[in-house]
Amino acid sequence: MSVLIQASDVRYRYDDGTLALDGVDFQLEEGETVALLGPNGSGKTTFVLHLTGLLQGSGEITVCGMPVRKENFAAIRAKVGMVFQDSDEQLFLPSVLEDAVFGPRNLGLPADQALAHARQALEQVGMAWAVAKAPYHLSAGEKRRVALAGVLAMSPQILVLDEPTTYLDPPTQRELIRLLKELPQAKILVTHDIAFAQALASRAVFFERGKVAALGAIDEIARRYDWRL
Ligand SMILES: Nc1ncnc2c1ncn2[C@@H]1O[C@H](COP(=O)(O)OP(=O)(O)OP(=O)(O)O)[C@@H](O)[C@H]1O
Ligand SMILES: [Mg+2]
Repeated sequence: MSVLIQASDVRYRYDDGTLALDGVDFQLEEGETVALLGPNGSGKTTFVLHLTGLLQGSGEITVCGMPVRKENFAAIRAKVGMVFQDSDEQLFLPSVLEDAVFGPRNLGLPADQALAHARQALEQVGMAWAVAKAPYHLSAGEKRRVALAGVLAMSPQILVLDEPTTYLDPPTQRELIRLLKELPQAKILVTHDIAFAQALASRAVFFERGKVAALGAIDEIARRYDWRL
């Protein structure tokens, strides 16, 4: 198994003095799905934002062998597809289709291929009907699905989904599980939804106050920590 992401001793303090990450070690291997669990404010989002250099603290992170540094940002962002916790941070173009096309175009795909990828991804998340809509007119769950399509359209090697089930109705959640199960990519799922994590992940990492408090098999971590989420 090859290691896709290796993070060691990652520390990060926000400008207001909050120590959000206090020495985090993490590893993701090819083909695996890992759940990041932990209470509100434990550092999960802060940590995943480090994986593509959106935040930069101290410590060492490599993605596909590349240190997360400015000169590698473009290459790393082509490998890691991130769906943000807040969809409004992700969708910024006037129409759903333009938003989904933006990523693959940005990676250098010719227009017709980018369009084909975008349409297929929108189809996969059940949002093909909305191609002409303005993203800011969509419901929260629809926005989330379009944000996911934008990432899938880039065919990244690693998927990072921060609270992907928030705002999704139960049938859409089940559909998402089915879709993610079929995708070959390694995945990091940040979630408070234990059933969702158990349906997809083999391992879990439990964050607490900026540290990894426990890690292990998903069922084991879920049993030990379920009550604290
Ligand atoms: N921009 C910011 N400025 C200052 N502090 C921040 C900022 N963003 C997050 N924090 C703080 O950093 C800590 C970790 O936040 P983070 O968003 O990483 O938590 P989380 O585990 O993702 O929580 P949740 O489950 O609520 O999404 C929290 O104490 C939070 O208040
Ligand atoms: Mg978060």
